[in-house]
Amino acid sequence: MFKKTALIINPCFIGESVSELRGGAMDKKEALNKIAEEIRKCKKCDLWKNRKNAVPGEGNPDAEIMFVGEAPGFNEDLQGRPFVGVAGKLLTSLIMDKLGLERRQVFITNVVKCRPPNNRDPKQEEIEVCSPYLDEQVRIIKPKIIVTLGRHSTIYFLKKLGINVSGVSQVRGKVFRGKLNDTKVIIIPTYHPAAALYNPRLRGILEKDFELIKTILEEIKRDEKLFEIKQIRLDEFFT
Ligand code: URA
Ligand code: SF4
Repeated sequence: MFKKTALIINPCFIGESVSELRGGAMDKKEALNKIAEEIRKCKKCDLWKNRKNAVPGEGNPDAEIMFVGEAPGFNEDLQGRPFVGVAGKLLTSLIMDKLGLERRQVFITNVVKCRPPNNRDPKQEEIEVCSPYLDEQVRIIKPKIIVTLGRHSTIYFLKKLGINVSGVSQVRGKVFRGKLNDTKVIIIPTYHPAAALYNPRLRGILEKDFELIKTILEEIKRDEKLFEIKQIRLDEFFT
């Protein structure tokens, strides 16, 4: 079903969206705060019953890049902040070391905003009922790139582009372009950092994927007005 190529993209839409939003940062911040308040009060699924804190997500309302994980874990639930445990440490260091960015420059969130008991996988119905918050965050932030961390987030976003997958390994290392409602985005799927903590091979792949993210970010910066879609193989891309 998938082409064994990376879609290397020339996102001509980016210039427009940036200028359109200039001056709107405050409104975006307010809009995000409003959603966060709703999330903290939310009882739309049973996960509210066990939460200490909901975890709406955090970061720059004007972020060019958004990272979306699965659901809060133990530490996230305690602190009400995303990716603050060991997996979060790895994510934070990849963002700094591979992308040269600070956490506060990006936006980090999850598909599901409250911690599932014992860190079990979120159920399909929980994802369905919670994901409108995520959709709204994407609509407000209008990131250029969404990095999906792990299976749930990858399945969720690629499905929106009409691509059905069952896991990350089929699609990592590839770059997808699409529209989410009114927002044009590039989606880059990769492994969840927690998976890489226990598997050194995945850690290497995750690092390589972050190098791909960096390349795409630079590509976007280098020439904002290009771009026709070009398909090249990944090994070509890295030479
Ligand atoms: N794992 C996730 O998917 N999200 C977090 O916020 C923390 C760990
Ligand atoms: Fe609401 Fe989402 Fe929390 Fe469920 S997980 S209670 S839908 S915020």
